[in-house]
Amino acid sequence: MYAYTLDASLGPQAFYAELVTAADALTKDEPDAIANMANLAALIWQLVPDLNWAGFYRRIGNELVLGPFCGKPACIRIPLGRGVCGTAAATGTTLLVRDVHAFPGHIACDAESRSELVVPLMRGRDVIAVLDLDSPVPARFAEAEQAGFEALAAMIATRI
Ligand code: SME
Repeated sequence: MYAYTLDASLGPQAFYAELVTAADALTKDEPDAIANMANLAALIWQLVPDLNWAGFYRRIGNELVLGPFCGKPACIRIPLGRGVCGTAAATGTTLLVRDVHAFPGHIACDAESRSELVVPLMRGRDVIAVLDLDSPVPARFAEAEQAGFEALAAMIATRI
């Protein structure tokens, strides 16, 4: 097993640069998408504080299908355009939701979730998956987290 640690005093830019470096090291020699998504979900879970769910939904046809994750068991299939994940996948844009109760159509897989960040993983112009992060803390995610996870998503899209 790998025990990654990050200096808790790092500012967000350095923190996410380190997270991308660790994710790169963890996946660079492995071609299997499931293995990489499983390890990436575990890495995020281990290093990023205040999350209650971290993982992947894969786009298959007109829906998202649950992939590797850490957290409570979650809804398995989400039609494109539904909820935060389905909307991010349908539009190919990141969704930063500071208050999930204010997002029309939010799908509450875990009643504890208060804020959410969903980043599409692109292959060319196609969304191949989304990275979904949920937090029990209201407004857990801001622009620094969005930029950090978008950098991570750009790298890991080549590994899944
Ligand atoms: N809240 C998401 C559903 C996925 S779970 O949070 C794991 C949504 O509204 O798309």
